[in-house]
Amino acid sequence: MPPVSRQAIEAWVDYITENCFSIVAECGRKIVGQAAVIPSGRDTAELCIFVHRNYQNRGIGQQMLRLIVDYCRRAGYRGIYLTTERSNVRAIHVFRKVGFRIVDSCYDYEMFLPLTDFCETQPAKDDQVS
Ligand SMILES: CC(C)(COP(=O)(O)OP(=O)(O)OC[C@H]1O[C@@H](n2cnc3c(N)ncnc32)[C@H](O)[C@@H]1OP(=O)(O)O)[C@@H](O)C(=O)NCCC(=O)NCCS
Repeated sequence: MPPVSRQAIEAWVDYITENCFSIVAECGRKIVGQAAVIPSGRDTAELCIFVHRNYQNRGIGQQMLRLIVDYCRRAGYRGIYLTTERSNVRAIHVFRKVGFRIVDSCYDYEMFLPLTDFCETQPAKDDQVS
């Protein structure tokens, strides 16, 4: 992720346009990042995010995350899920920083951010994983 071939990128943009809410980060006239939430199940959304490799580690990812989390909260979602590889230490650090917690660690890490008090009881496995 993100898709690399032109065909895959076009298919991805079509999918995002039809099914998701998304935001982009711009630097000059270039789009350098995108964060998208896809409604999944009842009152929850699934998140994906990427920042162009030349623009990573500048705070763009965290800024987009905060904006999209705020959107989800205002839109009435009860929580946001995402999946990330265990080896993706930077992404895990950033997701934890904005409040996501690991809720499933069978293969990849599934992380969850509760947006309402009702969801605060979602069990977190963060204490059990390194
Ligand atoms: C994950 C991603 C979205 C983060 O966006 P970003 O703009 O690079 O992140 P930011 O600059 O906002 O924050 C980077 C943080 O990671 C930290 N970091 C950088 N490298 C790290 C590493 N190897 N281990 C741990 N933390 C690391 C930085 O210190 C910073 O944390 P700080 O603010 O506490 O100092 C981006 O790197 C990316 O697109 N990665 C490739 C795609 C991807 O993995 N997407 C997520 C899949 S679910």
